[in-house]
Amino acid sequence: MLKAALIGYGYWGPNVAKQLYRNKNYVFDTICDLREDRLEKAKELYADSVAYTTDYNSILKRADIDLVAIAVETSRHYQIAKESLQSGKHVYVEKPFTDNVEQAEELKKIAADRGLRIHVDHIMVYHPAIRKIKEIMDAGALGDILYVSCYRQNLGNVKNDVNAMWDLSVHDLSIIDYLADGANVRFVKALGEKAYSSRESITFLSVQYENFIANITANWISPIKERKIIIAGTKKMLVYDDVDVINKLIVYDKGFDKTPIKDMEYDEFVVKSRIGDAIIPKLEQSDALYNSLEHIRTCIENEQESLTDADAAIRVIKVLELANQDLHSNGKELKNE
Ligand SMILES: NC(=O)c1ccc[n+]([C@@H]2O[C@H](COP(=O)([O-])OP(=O)(O)OC[C@H]3O[C@@H](n4cnc5c(N)ncnc54)[C@H](O)[C@@H]3O)[C@@H](O)[C@H]2O)c1
Repeated sequence: MLKAALIGYGYWGPNVAKQLYRNKNYVFDTICDLREDRLEKAKELYADSVAYTTDYNSILKRADIDLVAIAVETSRHYQIAKESLQSGKHVYVEKPFTDNVEQAEELKKIAADRGLRIHVDHIMVYHPAIRKIKEIMDAGALGDILYVSCYRQNLGNVKNDVNAMWDLSVHDLSIIDYLADGANVRFVKALGEKAYSSRESITFLSVQYENFIANITANWISPIKERKIIIAGTKKMLVYDDVDVINKLIVYDKGFDKTPIKDMEYDEFVVKSRIGDAIIPKLEQSDALYNSLEHIRTCIENEQESLTDADAAIRVIKVLELANQDLHSNGKELKNE
């Protein structure tokens, strides 16, 4: 059985710990955090069933630990992932993988040289609703994709080591990457505003993919919580609303039909809107984080690459890195005379 240790027990780490503990295909061995108070919190739940440490080196020295799950602040992923790989451990790294492409490429190489797996927790790829959307799209039910609109906003948690785009839009970029089978990105544009932080807490990101466009909002300064994706195809459209507890996913038979005008020499059409049924697909009841951890476990056991490996993460980070550059460049200036 695979033996795992967790580094980072802050806000998100406890969720990873819960799913590692729940998954009886893992031996969940150790929780590590620099802060004693965080370890005390963990002890309230896990008592003597796991070991605790403030020094992650003690985990890396252990020959019997197979997988290190890293849930520390993003700016610290690279160093801990690198040392873990160099110590012969497979790694599960929280999103975003690293804060630049160069470091991500370096980690990928270390893992490849040593035959180790990197799994980046692009958690939404393991969400039953996103899996269902992929099924619908792969069956061709939406037709050709025209655009994807994503809204991810709430009040806080304003961070300082990454901007809202790196924290939130990484989810949407990974969803699109998965749904569109790693589709090529052609252009990236971004706008942002630094409010209550040294980094942008509101960002509007636009991405031109090979065959469709996407608009992605990330916002920590919103009065309402929103986690919504709209995908419009030439045949059907869908809305995924993660905040809606009942109707998370609705597929609309709405769109436009083109009817050729008779007796015209050239191709001329009448465009008419079409409003048909709305369908609520049944979703499997499963936990995305559990699925993500189970996926890397089976990948390690079967010696396969993870669906969200370093390559998938690099495709996403490349967009974020370009977008960051665009945040600091001006668009077309409107001259007010
Ligand atoms: N998958 C998701 O949906 C999701 C959601 C939230 C956060 N995250 C990701 O999880 C990661 C952690 O985010 P967070 O909000 O929990 O951060 P956090 O600041 O709340 O927690 C980080 C923890 O790591 C500990 N830590 C830092 N350096 C350490 C070290 N060298 N050794 C041991 N412990 C160390 C800190 O003491 C802290 O307790 C981030 O990368 C974030 O993007 C993912």
